[in-house]
Amino acid sequence: MGDKQDSLDHEFANYTTCHGASRIANAKNRPHMALWTLIFLAAFGLCTWQIVDRFQNYFAYRTGTEINVQLESELDFPAVTICNFNRIRASGVTQRDLTYLWTAMYAPVMMGNPEAVQAYVNSVDWDAFNVSTELLEDFPGYVRRNGFVLNEDTLAQCTWRGVECTAQNFTHVFTEYGNCWTFNSDKNSPLKQTSPGAGNGLKLIMDVQTEEYTEDPLLGNLEYGLIFQVHDQHEPPRPELVGTAVAPGSHTYASTFQTHVKNQPTPWGQCDQNKGRNHLKYYDKYTLPGCLLECRAELVASVCKCTPMYYPGDMDYCTPLNLTACGIPTLATFLKENNEFDACGCTVPCEYTSYSSQVSYAGYPSDRAARFYETTFNYSSGYMSKNVVLLDVYYHELRSTTYEQFKAVDESGLISDVGGQVGFFIGVSVITLFEFLEYLIMKFSAFFLFSRKSSITKPNKDGLKVNNAVVFENTAAEYAEKKESTELSTIQTKPNGEKAATLEMT
Ligand SMILES: *[C@@H]1O[C@H](CO)[C@@H](O)[C@H](O)[C@H]1NC(C)=O
Ligand SMILES: *[C@@H]1O[C@H](CO)[C@@H](O)[C@H](O)[C@H]1NC(C)=O
Ligand SMILES: *[C@@H]1O[C@H](CO)[C@@H](O)[C@H](O)[C@H]1NC(C)=O
Ligand SMILES: *[C@@H]1O[C@H](CO)[C@@H](O)[C@H](O)[C@H]1NC(C)=O
Repeated sequence: MGDKQDSLDHEFANYTTCHGASRIANAKNRPHMALWTLIFLAAFGLCTWQIVDRFQNYFAYRTGTEINVQLESELDFPAVTICNFNRIRASGVTQRDLTYLWTAMYAPVMMGNPEAVQAYVNSVDWDAFNVSTELLEDFPGYVRRNGFVLNEDTLAQCTWRGVECTAQNFTHVFTEYGNCWTFNSDKNSPLKQTSPGAGNGLKLIMDVQTEEYTEDPLLGNLEYGLIFQVHDQHEPPRPELVGTAVAPGSHTYASTFQTHVKNQPTPWGQCDQNKGRNHLKYYDKYTLPGCLLECRAELVASVCKCTPMYYPGDMDYCTPLNLTACGIPTLATFLKENNEFDACGCTVPCEYTSYSSQVSYAGYPSDRAARFYETTFNYSSGYMSKNVVLLDVYYHELRSTTYEQFKAVDESGLISDVGGQVGFFIGVSVITLFEFLEYLIMKFSAFFLFSRKSSITKPNKDGLKVNNAVVFENTAAEYAEKKESTELSTIQTKPNGEKAATLEMT
């Protein structure tokens, strides 16, 4: 049995493409063999070390970023959301309503401590304000009607690529600034800018109506003017975080950049592939601001049983007092105690488009223009410098930049790394592995056959069968002997020959 196994081993050592084995098997003498064994073991050790290193390299999940700049003949224009620093217009609301709003909504925000706010809310006799029922029963409707409006009166002039646009081209949206208005909000067919430069995008002249301002000098916004945000159509605006302020009496040039970002899913990047698919309840595409707004809305809804009008949701809208007594303190506590991204499970999207703008200002209007406006719009020059904003939003260059994260070592990189190491050090390839597999099967079946053969031979003395098997065995051994006549193989064939002789005799 041992003889047959030895011959198989030797044969394998000779034909395998892992040539270190044949160097050892065919060594002329013992020192030669020892030398080759040493070389083989050293190469094997180095190879193992390198492979471990390659695997560590892969499992470090390192990434790189590729930046592509592409010039386009036309570029999707972003949505432009415009808000006013003034949340409620003076005309149309009573002083009692305003006092109530300021007392209810903005005074407690300054306290920052939920218990203090609760004590404050309990200490005031809210019924004494005798506010309009509209304010108490339909707060969003109240703000919608009495907040900042974008209509023929306030939108003095609007052009898109030189063609006139109107207030109908703006859609209403609630944010923390109350009413805001979005131009180009259509997700499915966004407008495209086809030539670069100011005047080829959106240009509007707006009256901010400073005489309508009701912001409290201690608690409200102290500024006058507009705040705008350029953003992707799928993304809800958050001007309180990323808005750009525009002052009356100036021409504001907002030169916009479009950036596409493609992230790798975890563990390489931070994005989560599954969230890309309809993870959000109220938005059809996953975006980070959408996720955060939903999370805040759910939090307020679960604690206060109402939805603030500037968050998405399907519960009843919060009243001003609900926001003061519950919504705002709940959110403030949550944001203070948690990392919003982790607590909400909001990750960056795997793919998104972001817009940013570079803003510059010029004095506006010139004396001559002021005289012209005085006759066309009936704006006195003093009124213009205090109230009128000229805003230009455009691409100064029709190009988009793509930032694409890629795996520094991907799967095929790992395979070629490992393949390179084993090939270089010990000459092993995938074919070698199959050779080894074949060798193992042969070795196993030889072992199996031999045990069966000996169990059959002894009781039955079936000479013929045994002879055949032995002859086959012998020829294999002889073949090996012929092919490489070495000391080792001749020693191995001798016992075989003896065995054959004894069996033939039986
Ligand atoms: C509340 O206001 C209404 C007008 O809006 C007025 O008619 C009424 O008398 C006021 N009630 C009190 C108690 O001040
Ligand atoms: C503005 O709205 C009008 C009417 O709805 C439409 O015909 C026009 O194409 C719109 N303009 C832009 C720039 O969206
Ligand atoms: C919300 O406001 C309504 C009416 O003012 C009140 O009945 C309700 O208790 C408030 N809910 C909370 C949670 O403060
Ligand atoms: C222009 O505005 C003034 C008040 O600012 C007003 O008295 C006058 O009637 C207006 N003229 C026109 C033509 O609208």
